[in-house]
Amino acid sequence: MSQPREFDIVLLGATGFTGRQAAGFLRAHPDARALKLCFAGRDPTRLAAVSAGTPLRVVDTRDVDAVERLAASTRVLVTTVGPYARYGDAVVDACARNGTDYLDITGETPWVRRVIERLDALARQTGARIVPFCGFDSVPSDLGAYMMVQALRERHDEGTVEVRSAFRIKGGLNGGTMATALMLAEPEHGEGLFSPYVLVPTRAPGVFDEPRVAAAMREDLRPHPDEALGGWVAPFVMAPVNGAVVRRSQALWAARGEPYGAGFVYQEGAAARGPLRAWAFTAGGLLIGLGARWRWLRRAAERFVPKPGEGPTEAQMDDGWFRVVLVARGERGTQLRGRILSQGDPGNRSTVRMLCSAALSLALGEAAPGGGVLTPSVALGLGFLDRLRREGMEWVVEPAAS
Ligand SMILES: NC(=O)c1ccc[n+]([C@@H]2O[C@H](COP(=O)([O-])OP(=O)(O)OC[C@H]3O[C@@H](n4cnc5c(N)ncnc54)[C@H](OP(=O)(O)O)[C@@H]3O)[C@@H](O)[C@H]2O)c1
Repeated sequence: MSQPREFDIVLLGATGFTGRQAAGFLRAHPDARALKLCFAGRDPTRLAAVSAGTPLRVVDTRDVDAVERLAASTRVLVTTVGPYARYGDAVVDACARNGTDYLDITGETPWVRRVIERLDALARQTGARIVPFCGFDSVPSDLGAYMMVQALRERHDEGTVEVRSAFRIKGGLNGGTMATALMLAEPEHGEGLFSPYVLVPTRAPGVFDEPRVAAAMREDLRPHPDEALGGWVAPFVMAPVNGAVVRRSQALWAARGEPYGAGFVYQEGAAARGPLRAWAFTAGGLLIGLGARWRWLRRAAERFVPKPGEGPTEAQMDDGWFRVVLVARGERGTQLRGRILSQGDPGNRSTVRMLCSAALSLALGEAAPGGGVLTPSVALGLGFLDRLRREGMEWVVEPAAS
């Protein structure tokens, strides 16, 4: 990226539910004062309402030339225009071509698989850091696993054989998230969603112990007690997506000469208070999963769930939170325990905090260069962890109680 650009950060989708919050976050952030920001979206009237003096660009993602100009005008492009399989191709393509760093909050692994196949080589050439999954899906899982691996390496000079995690969340649902979930339930969009290697199209020998990965995934599908994680663990709805992102990081770090450890596996579940709740979560999840297979039920559900542009109230978003407990085991048996805490609705307050912090990290030169279709941990590293700590999130690693 040799030519100077008009903007440091463009936020596309600034009029949407998460976009409006991201615009407010960036406008108010002291670290953004020295940066040239721009808000973009398809509707000039709605855009004017979020501007507060920030320059605006009217861009519809169906207008490929306008998207190209937007990508060429900035060093970092952040997009909250989703579902991404529906609206995202032109944006990520233009960023890869123009060597523009790209961030989104997708959880759509089948779409990112196609992005990897289409753009990874090009982004490596142009230097564009293409970083999907920068929201609640999948920063806590990806950066959490990396934090544990790094702690075992730095404190004990030990590779990691496994990281297990349990999530507890309180939060609401956005219309944009519901639109994405309903779209992923369509067979043509959901293909590959449950494949452990959906984000690793070419697997170098020795990186994955495939039978261990398969066994770990089977265990995650049924409720089970896990004393080290503090009780019972049930299947977690985001585990297939988050696990796939962690495995892409595992492959990318191995390719960069920093393997996680021999036969490393990542497991993820939802913390449950006792076996009854764990089985109830599982049965509830199964019923929703089965119901989502029927088109007529999906159509009926659309009438009752929040619509695009809608989401929880301000009070509900302030009241939300998420907590993750992590346990890591090293190649010589050392155990570490980690925790991540974040106040505020996970899909809104925390997602916006993580997405905008990632944008500031890239724009302020805190992350290593090197393009490609990356993951948050690979693109942003431990500097991102420090930035998130400064934003009030807790990321802690300590020895496990023996
Ligand atoms: N990772 C996470 O934890 C997480 C959390 C929340 C959301 N998400 C994802 O983020 C995305 C956005 O969610 P949201 O709740 O903010 O949705 P939303 O309120 O529906 O916002 C979507 C935005 O996209 C814009 N848009 C739609 N079509 C466009 C087009 N053709 N050209 C330009 N802009 C267009 C909309 O513009 P208008 O304002 O003009 O309609 C709006 O600004 C979804 O994919 C959702 O799944 C992820």
